[in-house]
Amino acid sequence: MARVAIVTGGTRGIGAAISKALAADGHKVVANYAGNEEAAAKFNAETGIPVIKFDVADPVSSAEGIAKIEAEHGPIDIVVNNAGITRDATFHRLSYEQWSQVLRTNLDSVFNVTRPVIEGLRARGWGRIINISSINGQKGQAGQTNYSAAKAGIIGFTKALAQENASKGITANVIAPGYIDTEMVAAVPEDVLKKIIATIPTGRLGRADEIAATVSFLASEKASFFNGSVLTVNGAQYIANG
Ligand SMILES: NC(=O)c1ccc[n+]([C@@H]2O[C@H](COP(=O)([O-])OP(=O)(O)OC[C@H]3O[C@@H](n4cnc5c(N)ncnc54)[C@H](OP(=O)(O)O)[C@@H]3O)[C@@H](O)[C@H]2O)c1
Repeated sequence: MARVAIVTGGTRGIGAAISKALAADGHKVVANYAGNEEAAAKFNAETGIPVIKFDVADPVSSAEGIAKIEAEHGPIDIVVNNAGITRDATFHRLSYEQWSQVLRTNLDSVFNVTRPVIEGLRARGWGRIINISSINGQKGQAGQTNYSAAKAGIIGFTKALAQENASKGITANVIAPGYIDTEMVAAVPEDVLKKIIATIPTGRLGRADEIAATVSFLASEKASFFNGSVLTVNGAQYIANG
């Protein structure tokens, strides 16, 4: 069945692959972005998937964006909270602004985007909430106290949300990607990246389409008993307990 899906940060990187995969599954996808107009226009021209600019870090902007999507496309049934940023520094050098930007964009966003949708999902008795965390939210990463905190927060949020809404036909799950070959990882210095790849038993970075395939499954009817799960997609780099 075709559903309306929102993918935050859905015009680039992992999000773009997720948007394409859900569209290929027959869903009506809307891809959100923050401000990179060029990338959004290119994505829209290549895929025909509508794009919408709003700031997931801001509750008012997010609520307005969600309302606009629902007015134009109908009620949202699938939410993929994918938008994220890094502002790396060791904690003793980390500014409040770096802390706050990452917490607001990566964690507050999950509230800002899911809250306006959840009552409708409950009323209609079906929903899929898929939140993109990170290997570094599971294991912690030096230089990323802000990012690790936000990504770990997403896991706790999702587990609680799954319990609250399971009886209403709604699933909430986390995907925790390892290092994926996107612009976010391209920003990592080459010598550091080489060392990271050496710690991945599979011997390579992951691909955005591998994360997208996992989202596609979680969004499907087949995944209705997957709820409150954390799916690690990391080439065996870190094997978490849950
Ligand atoms: N790449 C990896 O190895 C990796 C590993 C683990 C987890 N992740 C997570 O996977 C997700 C996607 O990562 P990526 O590597 O694909 O990132 P990316 O290539 O940097 O793309 C980020 C996307 O998020 C959007 N975005 C950023 N801030 C936003 C805001 N305030 N409001 C709305 N949209 C915003 C960007 O929009 P603009 O284009 O307008 O800037 C862009 O579409 C993130 O949550 C990231 O933390 C990535």
